[in-house]
Amino acid sequence: MARLTFLALLANAVLSQATSVWTLNCAPLTIQRSDPIISPGVASGHVHAVVGGTAFGRTMNDVDSASSAPATTCDKFTDHSNYWAPQLYHMRSDGKFDMMPFTGMNAYYENQTCNYDPSGNCPPNRNPSAFPEGLRMIAGNPFRRTYNSSDPWQQAILMETGNFGEQYGMPTRYAPAISGHVRFPSCWDGVNLDSEDHQSHVSYPDPTLNLKNGGSNTQGGMCPQSHPHAMINIGAEFGWDISSISDLKSLVWAQGDTTGYGFHGDFFMGWKDPSALQQSFANCNGGSCPWNSFGTSNGQPGTKTSMLPQIQGPFENIGWLGPIDALPGNNPVYKPMAIKGRQVTA
Ligand SMILES: *[C@@H]1O[C@H](CO)[C@@H](O)[C@H](O)[C@H]1NC(C)=O
Ligand SMILES: *[C@@H]1O[C@H](CO)[C@@H](O)[C@H](O)[C@H]1NC(C)=O
Repeated sequence: MARLTFLALLANAVLSQATSVWTLNCAPLTIQRSDPIISPGVASGHVHAVVGGTAFGRTMNDVDSASSAPATTCDKFTDHSNYWAPQLYHMRSDGKFDMMPFTGMNAYYENQTCNYDPSGNCPPNRNPSAFPEGLRMIAGNPFRRTYNSSDPWQQAILMETGNFGEQYGMPTRYAPAISGHVRFPSCWDGVNLDSEDHQSHVSYPDPTLNLKNGGSNTQGGMCPQSHPHAMINIGAEFGWDISSISDLKSLVWAQGDTTGYGFHGDFFMGWKDPSALQQSFANCNGGSCPWNSFGTSNGQPGTKTSMLPQIQGPFENIGWLGPIDALPGNNPVYKPMAIKGRQVTA
């Protein structure tokens, strides 16, 4: 499934350059109402599904909060970063909610973005840098309930069921697996590891630049002058098993979003050896890049492994024990109602 999705992504891309890519595969780490970027130290507004380093917790205030983890659920063993997205629930006919099984995350790491340059066009080798240590960023917006096609922050959020192809908002064709796709910003201001809105220190490539080499979009191209530093591009896909249900309209994301436009993802940089990460993209052979410096032996990929975080999240009945009466955090379910052609919230 993952591979096909990537091909679909490539087909959509306007980028003509050959890119090098490898896939990061991560097993689930925890599902809890925590978000150390948006809600440090306290319960977050909704439940998140998390993968990556075992240092994940509500309080991650240090530059090395993620990289200091002793282990990771990911197959590239030096990636102790954390990645998280809203958890998926099923709305039952009795009004209760079932938690859907989270199956983990795959992410494409690609060299598609280049530094800002006054020439306005990327060189043949785009040469993005590894993420600065301790960088944190979010893509998407939990509160969106409509789609704005000219906003790159929304173009970066897609969904897919099975291999039916990516689309904006909740998929319409049933398959027993659903994934939420998050393309993270790949341009950085060079100064801030975070910002008040957790977004303005990073940016997507500038669609008005790199026009001679296929343009720029959320997946790659040239960084804007305001955020001139190109980073490796991450396309993350979070997955859930929905084989127990048959009606996609009965799905809701943990923040109460039934539209899918409010899907989002968070990244907390925790690569133990950022220079090895960057070196990997400097030593690619065609489309594949070596990952033997990522803590695996003989250039073989490691194995993703489910683990528990070092610090157990505070206990909350988020649905582990069976159906629950409300979405944790008491988030109301968004019900669009058509009134004279307009959509309003119930
Ligand atoms: C990606 O990296 C490889 C290896 O360094 C290079 O051959 C290729 O041109 C790069 N692609 C882009 C778009 O920069
Ligand atoms: C859609 O996004 C664009 C680009 O961010 C913005 O300029 C515009 O105001 C947005 N439209 C609406 C209706 O929010």
